[in-house]
Amino acid sequence: MRAAVYEAFRGPITVTGVPDPTAVAGEVVVEVLAVGLCRSDYHGWHGTDPDIVCPHVGGHEFVGRVVAIGAGVQRVALGQRVVAPFVCGCGNCEPCRLGQHQVCRNQEQAGFTRWGAFAQYTTVPFADVNAVVVPDDISDEAAALVGCRVSTAYRGVVERGRLAAGEVLCVHGCGGVGLAAIAFGRALGAHVVAVDISEPALALASALGADTVFDASGVDDVGDAIHELVGGAHVSVDCLGHAATAINSVRSLRALGRHVQIGLFPSAVAEFAISRVIRDELEVLGVHGLSAARFSEVFALLSSGGFDPASMITQRLRLDNIPVALPAMGGFAQPGISVITTF
Ligand SMILES: NC(=O)c1ccc[n+]([C@@H]2O[C@H](COP(=O)([O-])OP(=O)(O)OC[C@H]3O[C@@H](n4cnc5c(N)ncnc54)[C@H](O)[C@@H]3O)[C@@H](O)[C@H]2O)c1
Ligand SMILES: [Zn+2]
Ligand SMILES: [Zn+2]
Repeated sequence: MRAAVYEAFRGPITVTGVPDPTAVAGEVVVEVLAVGLCRSDYHGWHGTDPDIVCPHVGGHEFVGRVVAIGAGVQRVALGQRVVAPFVCGCGNCEPCRLGQHQVCRNQEQAGFTRWGAFAQYTTVPFADVNAVVVPDDISDEAAALVGCRVSTAYRGVVERGRLAAGEVLCVHGCGGVGLAAIAFGRALGAHVVAVDISEPALALASALGADTVFDASGVDDVGDAIHELVGGAHVSVDCLGHAATAINSVRSLRALGRHVQIGLFPSAVAEFAISRVIRDELEVLGVHGLSAARFSEVFALLSSGGFDPASMITQRLRLDNIPVALPAMGGFAQPGISVITTF
């Protein structure tokens, strides 16, 4: 098969022929139909993910058609169109037994702990637990995005953030995760404030339903500005992963607010606005994707007109574009979501 391979972190990416994956016990092989370019793929290529061993094939936000089934798999059939969460839980450990597969103790992640979907074929580990059949009314492109950024935003806003109608949601960073968070905030009936430093990103945020957009370029205290604009947020999400946006997010909360950290940090330890957390009794909540067990809730929300993830797509690419498009993410030039649709 053809795959986009890198031999070293920050090194060249080459689309080249590699052996097809085979279906080992408990897993399935899928033909990739669409795969998103998520900033976590960029972090991986950049060398900040300790799970990745080179040579590597990234790509974790995909939809595929099942073409081979390993021994013991009982709930997946050939030809089904499936999506899997980027964190695939084993189904047996304590968090999995509690339905929290996204923090599985034996987790596998296509595109990180193993080769992923920047290729014609990839694998779904623990397939009976993680391969979710996509409803017919969801397009390939939309389904792919549910594999990571759409489901992660749902986990952050709905489950961790517990956002309620009439509350204020503040989203810091309006890329793939942020735009999906904005759409879920709107679907829940919240007042949504979108913060970014890119005009095109803020225009997309408005199109997806943000009530207030705020350009943070050159602003000293974004938190104060959000308090002046809307009286502070009940729920605020860092959808970039940077000391500045994490601190802005905490500082934009009103008393008893919930900060949700979705953006990944390049280092394991980061500076944090801890005194504000104590003073205002804030909650700090992490997010690590969404369990496959709850993908049906996300699909139901999308089908009922919550929003169409394809509306966040600004660029459709070929596998051959990855060697240029993935490293270029370091420059933040492309707003919205880029999806590979031709392999
Ligand atoms: N925790 C999880 O489960 C999980 C899942 C998916 C993605 N992620 C992470 O979430 C983050 C976002 O991913 P993405 O693919 O949506 O990224 P993206 O590149 O699409 O979006 C990032 C956005 O942040 C904006 N931005 C840059 N600097 C800013 C600043 N100072 N203030 C406000 N906005 C700023 C950019 O203009 C862009 O719109 C990444 O760190 C990614 O690795 C985490
Ligand atoms: Zn991702
Ligand atoms: Zn597990």
